[in-house]
Amino acid sequence: MFKKQTIKDIDLNGKQVLLRADYNVPLDDEGNITSDYRIKQSLPTILALKAAGCKIVICSHLGRPKDSDDKSCSLKPVAKRLSELLKEDVGFVADCVGDQVSNAVSALQPGQVLLLENLRYYKEEEQNNEDFARVLAEDSHAEIFVQDGFGVVHRAHASTDAITHYLPSVSGLLLEREVDTITEVMNDPARPLMAIIGGAKIADKIDIIHKFLDLADVIAIGGAMANTFLLATGVEVGDSLVDKNDVAIAHEIIEKAKQIATERQFTFYLPQDGIVSDKLDKTAITRIVDWDAQVIADIQSYPNKPAVSASKVGPKEKILDVGPFSGAFIVGAMQLCKTVIWNGTMGVTETVGLQGPVGPFAHGTELIIDGLLGSHGHKPFSVLGGGDTTAYIEQRKLTDSFNHVSTGGGASLELMAGKTLPGVAALLDK
Ligand code: 3PG
Repeated sequence: MFKKQTIKDIDLNGKQVLLRADYNVPLDDEGNITSDYRIKQSLPTILALKAAGCKIVICSHLGRPKDSDDKSCSLKPVAKRLSELLKEDVGFVADCVGDQVSNAVSALQPGQVLLLENLRYYKEEEQNNEDFARVLAEDSHAEIFVQDGFGVVHRAHASTDAITHYLPSVSGLLLEREVDTITEVMNDPARPLMAIIGGAKIADKIDIIHKFLDLADVIAIGGAMANTFLLATGVEVGDSLVDKNDVAIAHEIIEKAKQIATERQFTFYLPQDGIVSDKLDKTAITRIVDWDAQVIADIQSYPNKPAVSASKVGPKEKILDVGPFSGAFIVGAMQLCKTVIWNGTMGVTETVGLQGPVGPFAHGTELIIDGLLGSHGHKPFSVLGGGDTTAYIEQRKLTDSFNHVSTGGGASLELMAGKTLPGVAALLDK
């Protein structure tokens, strides 16, 4: 149960509100928004504030701009998209503090929405600077601060932490839903619980892997981090992306997993086959390498004995997706699980030109999606998170098909790992 006050707990009537959203959305080279999931997920709170006759000033960051001249990080395209979604004009101020802001706020009518420019154009934002937070509160004329930027509450910044020293601060509806759903599934999951973890670096997910070693009944590893685990077990991974610094950690995790498997029913699964190619290109010639399953290689060469190369990644080849045997194994395990938490795609799904279900390295990810959506009969409770996973699911227009698709990347991982989120801790208790 969410322990912080939300907009449902306070008198909002006609109030001037400063709303922190996470509009850190992906943009293409022309500045077009390529995924508006975070914007759409912010709408319930905005609509609730509008219904209460609030004057709404929204602030956010976008990207990691070097300075205020970096116009590729402007929030202007977000104001346009928000106007389209709300079907009304959303004002935009090309600054987040100062007279321009104050004047635009003075002209706001009840129910109107104004978006401020990127907070990170001021270095004080990331420094959690008290003066900057005070000026932000003053210039937005706010009486209440509403935190709804779940994706950024793992950062102690001026707009997540210091601001709460100047305004009564409560949670928006998205933040409440994210924290409630993720906390509940971690505290009391319907079992068996399976965690599918992909992505590039073990180091980024080490806390969550340890958490799942304690909590989950099955852990399946995919994505580039699987290469590092495989290397640690002695599999030759050719030219695959690996993190040599993480090999020792991978080894430790594998040993810990083996130990756990002797103490309780537990499976730690590393891919046994993979899709390899010597280039990351949609015209790339791909092949399956079966380094462990000894099934695919046999089938492919039946009735002959498989060539040695069928079970070896060549020195110039890269593992770019899990293979069909591993995909089927993961989906099979999923059929026995009541809850599946998935963070990180299985293969290369984010490279421009290789995206989508027909991308040559998306088949493993597609198998997982099929399984989660119940194609084999059973539909487990599904919680998805992580930037690449959410972006892929959005691209496939499937965000409504799962029980929860988190807007958070780092924030959802930290919450799952049981860490305190500074932007939540700073809000008023119930
Ligand atoms: C995210 O996309 O994870 C959040 O918006 C936080 O962004 P950051 O990692 O640049 O702080």
